[in-house]
Amino acid sequence: MIKPHGAERLNPLFVDDTEKHHALQQEAENLPSLLLNSAAAANAVMLGAGYFTPLTGYMNLADAMNVAEHMQTTDGLFWPVPVVNLTHDVSSIKGAERIALCDPNVEGHPVIAIQKVEAIEEVSPQQIEQMTEQIFGTLDTAHPGVATFTSLGNQLIAGPIEVLNYSYFQQDFPDTFRTAVEIRNEIQAHGWEKVVAFQTRNPMHRAHEELCKMALKALDADGVLIHMLLGKLKKGDIPAEVRNAAIRKMVELYFPPNTVMVTGYGFDMLYAGPREAVLHAVFRQNCGCTHLIVGRDHAGVGDFYGPFDAQEIFDQIPADALEIAIFKADHTAYSKKLNKVVMMRDVPDHSPEDFVLLSGTKVREMLAAGHPLPEEFARPEVAEILMKFYQSETAS
Ligand code: ADX
Repeated sequence: MIKPHGAERLNPLFVDDTEKHHALQQEAENLPSLLLNSAAAANAVMLGAGYFTPLTGYMNLADAMNVAEHMQTTDGLFWPVPVVNLTHDVSSIKGAERIALCDPNVEGHPVIAIQKVEAIEEVSPQQIEQMTEQIFGTLDTAHPGVATFTSLGNQLIAGPIEVLNYSYFQQDFPDTFRTAVEIRNEIQAHGWEKVVAFQTRNPMHRAHEELCKMALKALDADGVLIHMLLGKLKKGDIPAEVRNAAIRKMVELYFPPNTVMVTGYGFDMLYAGPREAVLHAVFRQNCGCTHLIVGRDHAGVGDFYGPFDAQEIFDQIPADALEIAIFKADHTAYSKKLNKVVMMRDVPDHSPEDFVLLSGTKVREMLAAGHPLPEEFARPEVAEILMKFYQSETAS
């Protein structure tokens, strides 16, 4: 099986041992505490679940800056996006060696992890700006990832963590949230060797379904891991429970049995385009996948990135940075000429009118107005689930 990133074995920071877990929970009651922001809490979930192997906690400033600039830590580990615990006010934890990190996304703010404080460093406005530009390629706060990152604070708390729970993900998505450890184990139990991961934050339409099928066929793979983001999204994106239902319906009706695993991970969307695509590759390798599909405008938002920037970045990183390979997909859509979904690069004789193309905005408008989506665009059973959601939104 493909090795985890930068390690022989996965390194989940969740504390499995019951006695140790109990002891840490007790210790946390007497520790100075810090209420995390959602981004730092999501990092804790990813670290806990083994997705961020081989990291052991939140990066210090030198590592975060180096990762932002060169995509590697000061020790030379390849890593595409800083994993940080940034906050505004550290007065409550001054001088503490260990602190309890509280979860902003769960009622009552329970402790999600304990952190050993190795350093508290002040990040200058120039350093925040530099990292933002390098991660997102822009400083424009109209970019939702930039708006979030630049509002997290300027105090960076570095150090290893021990994770006590997976925030709201296990309770809210019991059938879908999986750790990297669980996914690896399940892949092994299936006996799959070649596994393609499909990253998504959207419901899956015909184009997405076909992308997975094309990748399966072209790579002669054993299975697909549909791996959906379950964390926070920007306004207007479809909630995870609706996407989950729509994706499960599509898999049930339109994929051969035992070829797909439908799973999710607990992370907030960064919308960092190319950099996020590389992070996606890192943590799919940790899940045991041999390939990741990267299509058009992967992890993008608005017009901030070129449609294939997230593919091109993989040609710029060192050849030995990752073991996972990228399945680069061209724009995919239904061809009215051929009556099937195709990749545009495979049909050079087509003109734009030969495809069924609908923008996200158009799809939302149609569903909100109760107009069915064309069958060439979306499976009717999927469209029905989405229609119900939009109708209830319109009604409320
Ligand atoms: S993402 O932000 O999670 O990447 P989304 O769920 O929309 O967004 O896309 C999932 C994957 O499908 C990404 O790799 C994306 O590039 C790809 N993709 C989505 N739509 C198309 C399309 N029409 N043609 C080609 N690739 C696509």
